[in-house]
Formats: sequence, structure tokens, C-alpha cells
Amino acid sequence: MRSESAEQQSEWSPESWRSRLEAQQVRYEDRDAVERAREKLASLPPLVTSYEIERLKDEIAQAQQGKRFILQGGDCAETLADCRPEVITAKLKILLQMSLVLIHGLRRPVTRVGRFAGQYAKPRSSPTEKGVLGGHEIELPSYFGDLVNAADFDPDARRPDPHLMVRGYQHAAMTLNFIRSLLDGGFADIHHPDHWDLRFMEHAGLTPERRAQYERMRDTVADGLRFMEALGEQKVEELSRVEFFTSHEGLNLLYESAQTRRVPRREGWYCLTTHLPWIGERTRQIDGAHVEFFRGIENPVGVKIGPTADPEGVVELVRTLNPGKQPGKVMLIVRMGAAHVGERLAPILEGVAASGEPVLWASDPMHGNGIKTQAGIKTRDFDDILAELEQSLDIHDRVGTHLGGVHFELTGEDVTECVGGSSGPGEDDLHENYASPCDPRLNYQQSLELAFRLAGRIRGI
Ligand code: PEP
Ligand code: CO
Repeated sequence: MRSESAEQQSEWSPESWRSRLEAQQVRYEDRDAVERAREKLASLPPLVTSYEIERLKDEIAQAQQGKRFILQGGDCAETLADCRPEVITAKLKILLQMSLVLIHGLRRPVTRVGRFAGQYAKPRSSPTEKGVLGGHEIELPSYFGDLVNAADFDPDARRPDPHLMVRGYQHAAMTLNFIRSLLDGGFADIHHPDHWDLRFMEHAGLTPERRAQYERMRDTVADGLRFMEALGEQKVEELSRVEFFTSHEGLNLLYESAQTRRVPRREGWYCLTTHLPWIGERTRQIDGAHVEFFRGIENPVGVKIGPTADPEGVVELVRTLNPGKQPGKVMLIVRMGAAHVGERLAPILEGVAASGEPVLWASDPMHGNGIKTQAGIKTRDFDDILAELEQSLDIHDRVGTHLGGVHFELTGEDVTECVGGSSGPGEDDLHENYASPCDPRLNYQQSLELAFRLAGRIRGI
């Protein structure tokens, strides 16, 4: 209904973004190949359905009222090469385990939203990158994600290739197909001990108090599960009907708009590449192409809010994206950095609260906390991530708003990309298994520990 009025007001269409300035626009050389890719994408079946999208919107609306919590997480940049069963399974498992810990801590249902099945397009601070090839320093286009070009530093790999949009779609479809089959086949079944095993702390260098706290929490979660099991089949079945929604940054508007359609028996236009597309920090200009595209679709939309945002600008953005004040429609994903959140979050919370616009507040404690080691490696410190989260919770308490979700970059693998946590790598260990082509992710143990800390903080233990 809302997009009908958006359409009438100022002629929105799935292509109207083309008349606006597009930050982070990809420059393809072969325009015919772009058109071929677009036509192909437009003819292929959708990756998700409007029914699922509306269900997620309902769940976000519940989270806005404090009745639910949103856990969003996954890779910074998914790669086509990582479309492998063990990688996908590991991601589901860590999100499932974190959600269990959070359900216990928050006493609320948790909606799991993966940064997966399409997180293939990356904004970059610089459109080009200098490097050495064959002994010479040269400048090439930056790597914009597997939807656009390849990460290897050579001219062929870095040339934007329109057919990668179709390949990205195909890999998203394969990923989703596997996820849906796993869930149907009882992946999250309570009898699958591996998935409910929360003993990450056994080999960690923890203080005795912290170890006792984690062990207590693990035992209560396990007790809760056994209790559910004892209640009988119905509850167990409910628990095993675990859902995962998908999300990605809706950066490449050629890709997103090609899969944007009307559906039978519902009003408006749905972007069917994912349930929850979001607008990144670098593309949230009010008069830019991304805001124009996103204001017309029915999906719930995320918007990253960084340290340069001001309260009036954020309110204007929310009004533009959600003129009908639909609950569950806009999720503001704040990523200020531990050093700035204390000063900059409160005015934004106050401004939006005073405007009466309905939003879900989420915290992304990753993207404002990037640092470089002495050796020049991109990393993030577990303590900064936790500090931003804890400060955000305090500030929400003070202002009288509430945090309804979190957004993490993480993986189920044993990578060494972020430093810290009770068993995490130090700066000198980062080279051991640094696999991200983009930002550093929390590894399996760091992710679970963060969930324990967040749950413990919220329950006051
Ligand atoms: C991201 O989420 O990977 C990202 C680039 O975030 P932001 O837009 O907040 O910088
Ligand atoms: Co990132």
C-alpha cells in the first residue's frame, strides 16, 4: 500500500533511481553485456518470496516493541568460492548458537538474519588501489565484491564483469537452496548435540570468575533445552522450526532492480533478491540513487548510520523511506565506533524519538572500530566491539529507547582476523588464518563469547 502512494507522489518505479546520482556506481565497459545480464536476472525466479518478507517485517515490528530481538550476522564479503557446504553450515551453526544464548539472556524470541545468500557487493573508500604487479607499481580498480569483479590484483580480475551479477544470483540461489534443505531436514533439531554445544570456553584463558559465569550460562541454556524436550513433541517441533532470513547491502542497483517485481495478491513492489536489503554508510544520501530505489520497495530496509549523521538528516531519511509509518519497515543500524558512540548516539536517538517515526534500533559495533596493526593489517579489537555495544545499551537506557538488534561480521570458521576475546589472536597471530577479502570478522569462539557477554550484560550477571 505504501509504495502505491510513493509511486503516486513522485513517480517511483524500479528504475527511477537511474535519474539520481549513484554513489559507488560501477563503471562497466560493455553496456550490451549489462543489458543481457539485466534481462537474464529479470527472467529468473525470485530468490525469496513476499510472504517471507512480510513475515520478517512483522518480526521487526515486534522487535521495535521490545518483544523480540534481531540477530544479524555473517561475512563482510561473501565470495563465490565460499559457496561450500561446510562454510554455509558453520555460519548457520554459529548464528543458531548465538541466538540460543541471546534468547536465554533476553527472555525474548530472536530472529536470525544472515549476511548471506547475496552479500557479494562491496562499497570501497577508494575506487582504485595501488599495488605491485610484475615488479611495477600500478593502479587498478578496487575490488567491489564478487558480484562486480575479482579480488586478485591483476587487470583482468579487477575489470567489472556484468555476467558476475548472474553468477552471484546463481550462487545466492545455491546457498539458499542448501539452507532451506538443511532447515527442512532438521538441521536445528534439538537432538543434534553438535549444534547445541556451547562449550567454547573450555580451552580459553579466562579468569575463574568469567569461566564460572560462562559455565553457569551454558548450563542454564542446556537446562532450558532439556526442559523443552521434556515438554514433548510439540514444543520440540516448534523449536526445530528455526528460521533464517537473508540480508545483504543493496549496493548494486542494477542487480536489485532487475529482481524487483509486483507479486500476485499483494500491493506494491518487492525486491526479491533478499528479505532485508540495507543501505550502506556510503550510499545513504537523501537525494541519491539508493534512497530513491529503497523508498519504493515493500521490504523492510536497513540503513547504516555512522558518526557523520545528524539527527535531522536521520529523521528525514526515515520519513523518506517510510512515509506511511509502517511498523517493522526501517531498521537503523548504528555504527559509530567505541570512541564516538558516547557523544553521538544520544542526539540521534532523541531526535528520532521526538519525531515519532517508528524504527528499530540496531547496533553494528564492527564498522566504526576498524584499526590497522603496526604491520598494516586491518583488524578490530574484541574489547572495542564489546565497548560500543555496552555503551549503546547504556545510552538507550538513558534516553528511554531500546536496542532491538545487533549486526555483526562473523564466521563459523576458526579465522584470525579480529584480535582479543578470551582465546582470540593477538596482533602477531593474525597471519595464521586471515581469510576475509574485506573487513575482519569475529571467529567462532569470539562470536559465541560476544553473545555470552551481551546476554550477561542484559541480564545483569
Ligand atoms: C558493511 O556492512 O560491510 C559495510 C561496508 O558497512 P558500512 O556501510 O557501515 O561501512
Ligand atoms: Co564490512
